[in-house]
Amino acid sequence: MRTRIAVVATSALLALGACMQGDDRPAPSAGASARADAPTSSPVSDAALIEDGHDIAERNCARCHATGDSDASPNRRAPAFRTVLSRYKSQTLARELIDGMGVAHAPMPNFHFNPAGTDALIAFLESIQVREPGRLLVEERCARCHSIAKAGASPYPGAQPFRNLGRRWKRDQLAQALHVGILAEHDRSGVRFEMRLNDQEITDFLAFLDSIATPAHPAPKD
Ligand code: HEC
Ligand code: HEC
Repeated sequence: MRTRIAVVATSALLALGACMQGDDRPAPSAGASARADAPTSSPVSDAALIEDGHDIAERNCARCHATGDSDASPNRRAPAFRTVLSRYKSQTLARELIDGMGVAHAPMPNFHFNPAGTDALIAFLESIQVREPGRLLVEERCARCHSIAKAGASPYPGAQPFRNLGRRWKRDQLAQALHVGILAEHDRSGVRFEMRLNDQEITDFLAFLDSIATPAHPAPKD
């Protein structure tokens, strides 16, 4: 996988020349190809490259995206970098950082990075990825009642499969409801319990809903 990223990066450099940001950055180290058979998910160990990428992220991205391990993004709509590669493949992202971001919607600027800068940025992103925190949350705390899959019934009758929430809730309303607490009937004996999430958990939960969205079962929209 690393090899393929490096190949994409190199050919784009030839095609686009030097008219990009970050030209003063060092070329990707030879270590990049030495890592070729490392699995994509494993953190890249080149500390200097990662630090370089961290720098680029702080300068260019941190005013909107969270770059740490638990901070919320300054721009609510911008996903935290620690989860970004769970929805976006390194390879696709590398290409888009060089060619201009296809994902970019206002207010996200259209970036054109050179391959060295891109390699560093991707190395940084890979080094901070966590297993989707939203998936962890729902597996641990919701899945015994709610279906968390793209198909299938909920284990607990009356608990909506999470894929239906987009048709039932606007994003803000759902966030607000989970913040205040949703009263659910715990069992048929009438015991009730309140499901409440904190802000970080709500962010993670909404990101999880995005990750299981399909055209037939869209995620909650703004
Ligand atoms: C001015 C704010 C802003 C800046 C600066 C910014 N972004 Fe974004 N970015 C956003 C927003 C908002 C979104 C969500 C766009 C949407 O889905 O509508 C986004 C989306 C993304 C996505 C897609 C995530 C996904 O899961 O679909 C990636 C990847 C990304 N940004 C990377 C970057 C990188 C890398 C930088 C810095 C080089 C950067 N962004 C700088 C605002 C910003
Ligand atoms: C013990 C079973 C149980 C667990 C665990 C549980 N829920 Fe529920 N939940 C329910 C039931 C039952 C309802 C339906 C309540 C009603 O309609 O009165 C519900 C309703 C909801 C609703 C409203 C759905 C709608 O559109 O009507 C949301 C959102 C929700 N739960 C989120 C969560 C989240 C998030 C978690 C985990 C963090 C969770 N629940 C854990 C049983 C559960």
